[in-house]
Amino acid sequence: MGGHHDALRAGEPQPAATIGGSNRARPLSPSTPSDTPLELAVVIPTFNEIDNADELLRRLQGVLAGIAWEAIFVDDDSPDGTAAKLQALSRRWPQVRCLRRIGRRGLSSACTEGMLSTGAPLLAVMDADLQHDEALLPQMVQALRDPAVDLVVASRYMQGGGVGQWDATRRSISARATQLSQRLLRLALSDPLSGFFMIRKTAFESTVYRLSGMGFKLLLDILASAPTPLRVKELPYTFRPRHAGDSKLDNKVAWDYLMLLADKTIGRWVPTRLVSFGAIGSFGVLVHLAVLRLSLAVAGVDFVHAQTVAVTVAMVGNFFLNNALTYRDQQLRGWAVLRGLLVFMLACGIGAVANVGVAAYIHGGWGNWLVSGLAGILVGTVWNYGATAYLVWLKPRRR
Ligand code: GDD
Ligand code: MN
Repeated sequence: MGGHHDALRAGEPQPAATIGGSNRARPLSPSTPSDTPLELAVVIPTFNEIDNADELLRRLQGVLAGIAWEAIFVDDDSPDGTAAKLQALSRRWPQVRCLRRIGRRGLSSACTEGMLSTGAPLLAVMDADLQHDEALLPQMVQALRDPAVDLVVASRYMQGGGVGQWDATRRSISARATQLSQRLLRLALSDPLSGFFMIRKTAFESTVYRLSGMGFKLLLDILASAPTPLRVKELPYTFRPRHAGDSKLDNKVAWDYLMLLADKTIGRWVPTRLVSFGAIGSFGVLVHLAVLRLSLAVAGVDFVHAQTVAVTVAMVGNFFLNNALTYRDQQLRGWAVLRGLLVFMLACGIGAVANVGVAAYIHGGWGNWLVSGLAGILVGTVWNYGATAYLVWLKPRRR
């Protein structure tokens, strides 16, 4: 940690009266409107960030003097008690609120809901872990005071910016992921995957019905969903090390990113969950063949038994992968997993029968093995997808 962090951490959070005085003329009686209208809402998603909240607020208070601002934390019921901590802080800081979501996970949807909960004309999104340089916030407000700008992005990848202490692997993954979205979605800005940006409320609202809302990359979602291209300005900053706690970035986040890209490109024609289901299904074919080969290598195992083992392993694997990835947002847990697995295997069994039936029918009329085989796979996959979506994962909605 840098020395200035320590100096800032020294003091306790300031009580409401002091803060109201320096930021926003807060009336003591709630029936009197403030004479300084709210200008900026800083939306901060949190999951297990209990040890970062005070410090972040202290820094916001430091840099946002002279701007009427509020902070909206959106917490997904962090097990470490972040929400209770934030609610305690909000009793002393009138411009702090915490939305607490139960049974939900997702950085993008958390930010979206926070942004929709305020009347402030400018909306900033920043992480709670102090990796984003808060000193940029006043410059971002300044940039948006120009009506020709809709969105200001804090960029790690422009002249003057940087990713700080990342290792070579994370650097190269981030650079490649950035290039991929720039090409696929034809974006000109240097850091479309930034988690730190400020947008005019009207511009955000023009995108809100089209957002995919999946995963980590809300900025990319907004850029790709805007009905008319947003007018973007970028400002450089250097990504800092995390203050306290651990990153939530994992392999699933990478998968969510690919699914967001799929939704924003081919999503108009094919449901993204079907793409995900199909990709996992193709992987299942490889698993099947590998297990088949291995089983046949075991002495005394005949083909029928080997094939049975392979089908079972592939189905069970597919079930767990779909539960973790395709239906990440409505994952089955506990005993529901066992029930889900049984229903999944039954439904896919019927899918296999349909697959063979369709393939045989087309083959009978036409004779082309490749076309017949592919048609069977297509029908089987769509059946499996539809049946399991309805019977395994979407069941609670029917009740
Ligand atoms: N409410 C909620 N729900 N918040 C979440 C969730 C969630 O499921 N997952 C993560 N967060 C919060 C974290 O608590 C943190 O405040 C912020 O979102 C970012 O999470 P990190 O785990 O710190 O992500 P990172 O540092 O690896 O990546 C960040 O920076 C990148 C570069 O700017 C993210 O902002 C990325 O989107 C961004 O690309
Ligand atoms: Mn972080």
